[in-house]
Amino acid sequence: MKKKFYLTTPVYYVNDVPHLGHAYTTIAADALARYKRLKGYEVLFLTGTDEHGDKINRAAKEKGVTPIELADQVVSRFQNLWKKLSISNDDFIRTTESRHTQVVSKVFQRLYRQEDIYRGTYKGWYCVPCESFWLEPQLRNGNLCPECGRKTEKVEEESYFFRLSRYQKPLLDYLEHHPDFVLPPSRKNEVVEFVKRGLKDLSITRLKLAWGVPCPIEKKHTIYVWIDALINYISALGYGANKDKFSIFWPADVHLVGKDILRFHAIIWPALLMALGIELPQTVFAHGWWKMKGEKMSKSKKNVIDPEEIVKQHGADQLRYFLLREVPFGQDGNFSIPLFIKRVNSDLANDLGNLLSRTIPLVVRHCGGKVPSPADEDKILEEKIKKILPSLDEAMNILSFSEALSCIWEIIRSANLYVDKCAPWKLANQADKQKRLNTVLYNLSETLRVLALLVFPFIPVSAQKIWTQLGMEEDLGSQTLDKAGVWGGLSPGTTVKKGPPLFPRIKT
Ligand code: MSP
Repeated sequence: MKKKFYLTTPVYYVNDVPHLGHAYTTIAADALARYKRLKGYEVLFLTGTDEHGDKINRAAKEKGVTPIELADQVVSRFQNLWKKLSISNDDFIRTTESRHTQVVSKVFQRLYRQEDIYRGTYKGWYCVPCESFWLEPQLRNGNLCPECGRKTEKVEEESYFFRLSRYQKPLLDYLEHHPDFVLPPSRKNEVVEFVKRGLKDLSITRLKLAWGVPCPIEKKHTIYVWIDALINYISALGYGANKDKFSIFWPADVHLVGKDILRFHAIIWPALLMALGIELPQTVFAHGWWKMKGEKMSKSKKNVIDPEEIVKQHGADQLRYFLLREVPFGQDGNFSIPLFIKRVNSDLANDLGNLLSRTIPLVVRHCGGKVPSPADEDKILEEKIKKILPSLDEAMNILSFSEALSCIWEIIRSANLYVDKCAPWKLANQADKQKRLNTVLYNLSETLRVLALLVFPFIPVSAQKIWTQLGMEEDLGSQTLDKAGVWGGLSPGTTVKKGPPLFPRIKT
């Protein structure tokens, strides 16, 4: 039976116009999902949209439509962007779907029955854009949200509370015994420190907000949007309804989130799961932020980059590559177009693109367009690949995408050096060197075939083009590394197909 891998992104606020920061979480998740499929896993990669709450309610009012009308109108912004970015999600959940709302309601009822939820009065502050509750001492300069810096609103109302405080000790124990539960490790330490300072019970219903899952105990309340949204990770598996799917895929292997929403995922979510008696996910990985001139990219700061614009001008693979290569995953990075262009031109156009455009035409010109048979023992590139594969796997297992790419680029650089050193164009001019030429061109073509597999998680469209130029007919996405990643898979005699440059240089 295949090994399973369940991977999620957050559900995105449906009325946000997706920007580069949103695209980052999803692209990273996609690279991981594709890699795991290559490793032979049956992957369930989930993304979706967060469609309840005050933020969407107010946006709809401003537009003069109902919240669900607004959600229906704009959800395709995410779905279309994911298509353009070659995102291979297996499911897309909208938190307004009944498969989700039913689970939210059941979870609430169950927690109420077992007295993990009680009724009280909430007095505090609320940030609508972050959909977060804050207490007075946490606010910045009077009444500003400590997270996004925008104005919060005073709230005093009856509310149902989740006994989060009950889970402080179990959470600390869990964190201590599961070093991989929150990654990177520095983020885990932050979470531990936060929990140690004490957890207060959490208000989990809103009284004056009609747009949410109705509280099953008292219909005039609606369930707090964050509790609602977190439950998507189990409702998408049919929790409570489809035992098989749930038991196959749960616990999740990775919840991928940005560092701004780590506390929801590393404190509130595990506490809810503990209360429900459900196993905790293996890992919550918090990545860093893309910034513009040192400030977090966000709609409120009006400094967002539109990923669609970059895709239109330069290509989706170029953007995917840049985001995953430029900054070690987990750290913040500054986005700038000159940096983007530099990366694309040097790594994609010069290194990978050139390797392909130096190899295929030589096979066409000197071997009648057919991959030649290697004729002598020359294992330089084969050995290089063998040596790199374990490091690449190690990097991917800890979500070090930029490290993984630098492993792959070691192979590309070695192959380019090999071309320079062997100078196949010179060999082609010497009648007695045909055998050597065949070996060199076989080794280069075979290296490119393996490279297509290795870069597939990161730049899937270009990888498929390399694969096709090498005359491989099967779909690259159906390959596995343990079979196709073995040296020698390219049969001599295969007809190659010359194509246009893979990564045209971007003019600066
Ligand atoms: N709806 C909640 C998530 C609920 S999950 C149960 C939410 N949505 S969001 O649309 O605001 O954010 C979604 C993701 O985008 C988060 O992982 C967030 O960290 C990420 N990013 C938003 N801006 C970002 C950057 N500038 N840089 C990197 N990622 C950022 O929060």
